[in-house]
Amino acid sequence: MASPVKAFVAVLLILGLVTEGLCACSLNDINIGTVRSGRTIQGKAEWNVTVINNCKCSQSKIKLTCKGFQSVEAVDENIFLKQGDNCLLIKGDSLPGFRSVSFSYAWDPPFIMFPSDSVVKTC
Ligand SMILES: *[C@@H]1O[C@H](CO)[C@@H](O)[C@H](O)[C@H]1NC(C)=O
Repeated sequence: MASPVKAFVAVLLILGLVTEGLCACSLNDINIGTVRSGRTIQGKAEWNVTVINNCKCSQSKIKLTCKGFQSVEAVDENIFLKQGDNCLLIKGDSLPGFRSVSFSYAWDPPFIMFPSDSVVKTC
């Protein structure tokens, strides 16, 4: 019996498989952790920031919000480059799945950063 309901369910299942197959990862899988390094530079606390791609697919052109970002310590621009109100991670290079990158900066208070943009590779 080919009821319309069964046909509809079958279509949903196929759609689900297709989107799953394309990629289950998104910008939401980019997680940012900030911890106090314990050092103080020019009177400002130093912070270690770790950005993790918490999904299986690579993501490139990762940007974080960083409005007003400042640091008394030089930040490695190959890892974190300020471009206006956003900062580009690892020059836009690909961050593989479940890999992380870290950098340090010194300022008080720390900056609250969120992922703002990325390109998810299919995998
Ligand atoms: C912070 O980063 C520095 C430089 O990579 C490292 O030596 C230190 O162990 C880190 N500290 C913490 C608390 O993660």
